Amino acid sequence: MPAVVLVGAQWGDEGKGKATDVLGSRVDYVVKFNGGNNAGHTVVIGDQKFALHLLPSGILTPGVTPVIGNGVVIDLNVLFQEIDGLIERGVDPSALLVSSAAHIIAPYARTLDNVTERFLGKRKIGTTGRGIGPAYADKINRVGLRIGDLYNEQLLHDKIEGALEQKNHLLVKVYNRRAITVDEVADELLGYRDRLAPMVTDTSLVLNQALDRGETVLFEGGQATMLDVDHGTYPFVTSSNATAGGACTGSGVGPARIDSVIGVAKAYTTRVGEGPMPTELFDEFGEHLRDVGHEFGTTTGRPRRCGWYDAVVTRFATRVNGLTDIVLTKLDVLTGLEEIPVCVAYDVNGVRHQELPIDQADFAAATPVYEYLPGWSEDITGAREFSDLPQTAQDYVMALEKVSNCRISAIGVGPGREEIVVNHDLLHARGE
Ligand code: IMP
Repeated sequence: MPAVVLVGAQWGDEGKGKATDVLGSRVDYVVKFNGGNNAGHTVVIGDQKFALHLLPSGILTPGVTPVIGNGVVIDLNVLFQEIDGLIERGVDPSALLVSSAAHIIAPYARTLDNVTERFLGKRKIGTTGRGIGPAYADKINRVGLRIGDLYNEQLLHDKIEGALEQKNHLLVKVYNRRAITVDEVADELLGYRDRLAPMVTDTSLVLNQALDRGETVLFEGGQATMLDVDHGTYPFVTSSNATAGGACTGSGVGPARIDSVIGVAKAYTTRVGEGPMPTELFDEFGEHLRDVGHEFGTTTGRPRRCGWYDAVVTRFATRVNGLTDIVLTKLDVLTGLEEIPVCVAYDVNGVRHQELPIDQADFAAATPVYEYLPGWSEDITGAREFSDLPQTAQDYVMALEKVSNCRISAIGVGPGREEIVVNHDLLHARGE
């Protein structure tokens, strides 16, 4: 049975839950390998809606072991808020495993995220304000705090002291904030220690042993390809590797064990936060996509920027992730449009670019080259087979497949779990 990586192929919020639903009960482990509580997915439990930011989606499926891998940064307060929220709703989260090598988002990381953004002024990134960047910066600077440190009080105190030495200078002298004491940080973090203890383990070992036993592991990427710190629209990115390679480094499972890589893409494009987005619409079509697609952030509530499908972006996603399949979501949002533009290339100062320009200034100057495809007016939410879709909707999907350079294996046609057309089995072994 395979190891499957699931990543966002655009700028996030593509609806990865839809792909997870298709894989359903056939998965034994769901692993979050990057990011933190900057992510967000809304889940429906009975008649209640609940937003999860940090916990892997597998937490809701009985029999699935949810895993927070070493590549994640954890806000312990948020972790236990989400766990308690689930317990109140009758969900048992006790199967959750947390890597002892995952980093902690210390309270000062949140403060620094917000003051840094304020000081960046018009160059701000538009972060979610959850302390993600500063937590990863500490990890890379080797002054981060790891989950395992909670179980060695002296080490924890020393590490916090080391981290605060610099940060207090910054907070007090540059940002005009009050200094933070070692004890206040340590006390807050140690308050979670005992509750967390049964979940903490070497998750790399657990996952590799599960694969040895032939169990199925789903690696669920947070954020998305274009927000990846290496491959995205730097500096307007998150601070982790949201592309498929991050699944290996963020979990301790080697690349040769991965069987398939599924990219999730919306049938159009959205983005939150700052940074370039060539197909962004500022007219009534943009409003239309936002209204019909309910494009407002789960984490911050911000209205998402909306635009047409950008095949330069998804073609890039196919390449840098090695996508084997695309799950196309929200096709129904396009119903009723007379014609649908698809961006197939960019014009950068009069030069046609087939591939994504890696130069920041070129990307910022890119304007879309569109092909126009005929739309459809029929309600498609009842479609379950590809042939149930109107011919023009089928043509639209096939055109996207071609320009994105990857087969489209499933198509979301409505918000419900069952509102999906599956073309190819997503749990296939390599090369099938
Ligand atoms: P950070 O991850 O909070 O540092 O934010 C960096 C950028 O990534 C900002 O543009 C955020 O809006 C964006 N971002 C972070 N997480 C998500 C997500 O889950 N979906 C969409 N955008 C995100």
